[in-house]
Amino acid sequence: MKPIFPKSLDFIVRAIGAFLGISILTGVAAYTYFSLPVVLDTGYRPEQPVPYSHKLHAGNMGMDCYYCHNTVMKAGHAAVPSTETCMNCHTRVKTDSAALAPIRASYATGEPVKWVKIHALPDYAYFNHSSHVTAGVSCVSCHGRVDQMVEVTQVKPLNMGWCLECHRNPAPNLRPAELVTKLDWEPPAGKTATEIGLEIVKAKGINPPVNCGGCHR
Ligand code: HEC
Ligand code: HEC
Ligand code: HEC
Ligand code: HEC
Ligand code: HEC
Repeated sequence: MKPIFPKSLDFIVRAIGAFLGISILTGVAAYTYFSLPVVLDTGYRPEQPVPYSHKLHAGNMGMDCYYCHNTVMKAGHAAVPSTETCMNCHTRVKTDSAALAPIRASYATGEPVKWVKIHALPDYAYFNHSSHVTAGVSCVSCHGRVDQMVEVTQVKPLNMGWCLECHRNPAPNLRPAELVTKLDWEPPAGKTATEIGLEIVKAKGINPPVNCGGCHR
């Protein structure tokens, strides 16, 4: 039987097939590559210039998060503390520690310490700390038990699905705003976190945005 298509067409069909196959593979590879940072973000724990431990300062010594992250209530960005904040104590404590040499150098020269940023959203997504913290969302909901971390590790994916999951049902993550830095907070006996959260939703009229323009401005 004569083939319906001539041989040359068969070649063209194969060539197109191969081309499409390669394109799809390239597409998949590119997609995987560009989505990788998001996938890898959870567990991200870069090395810092100074082995500063939250477990020691915030955990064992019980320092409040606001002592160092003092803009978090008022501003969009939480900001990492200045060298002066460390030197409130380290002009007197552990003054000859090698680990603190970069802090002393920064204090002497005025050059800020180059802390490596861990949590980072793409520029096209709008996020503001103060609106979350004043609504009563604790640091622990988004950063985990930082007071138990020797080195800060990212524990939440920070992707759109994660933001939306809470925005659709914020109550389980709400508490009185003055308790947001108490990472080990438990609801008082006889009440669940969600019951307390629902009271706060009602009292403050909490209504996080789920429309695109809320976070992509
Ligand atoms: C004595 C000062 C100090 C205190 C108190 C403190 N921090 Fe920090 N924090 C730092 C410094 C310095 C860094 C930057 C180095 C690092 O990541 O460890 C940092 C980094 C962080 C980061 C990561 C920032 C990024 O780059 O994404 C988070 C999250 C954080 N702190 C949360 C907290 C929470 C929650 C508390 C309270 C339980 C707290 N911190 C208490 C000094 C402090
Ligand atoms: C409220 C006082 C206080 C502040 C503020 C403070 N520290 Fe400390 N830090 C201490 C104390 C106390 C120790 C020692 C604990 C011990 O006995 O081992 C310490 C220990 C350290 C050590 C371990 C030093 C070593 O050789 O063992 C490092 C590193 C350090 N702090 C970094 C920082 C940095 C960075 C900041 C600023 C972001 C900071 N500290 C702010 C009180 C403070
Ligand atoms: C609703 C989630 C959420 C809560 C609650 C939250 N954070 Fe964050 N935090 C983030 C996100 C998201 C980023 C990355 C922001 C960016 O890249 O624009 C971040 C970044 C940071 C940073 C790095 C500096 C910056 O602003 O980018 C620090 C420090 C920090 N948070 C500390 C805290 C502390 C301390 C608290 C509690 C008082 C807290 N955060 C509460 C989600 C949260
Ligand atoms: C654990 C719960 C939770 C998570 C996670 C969360 N949010 Fe929110 N968000 C809230 C609450 C509660 C409010 C306050 C709503 C109000 O006051 O009516 C809010 C408000 C907002 C607002 C409106 C207020 C403003 O600042 O303009 C934006 C925008 C926003 N969130 C963005 C984000 C983004 C982006 C993420 C993810 C990176 C995120 N949120 C993650 C609970 C959360
Ligand atoms: C609560 C905040 C929030 C809302 C509401 C929101 N986004 Fe996003 N969106 C984000 C954040 C944060 C990112 C970046 C993190 C990521 O890649 O998921 C993002 C990423 C994206 C991206 C980049 C592609 C991707 O997934 O990586 C697109 C496209 C997007 N959003 C479209 C939308 C559209 C369309 C809507 C409305 C249906 C919407 N967003 C509503 C927070 C939000």
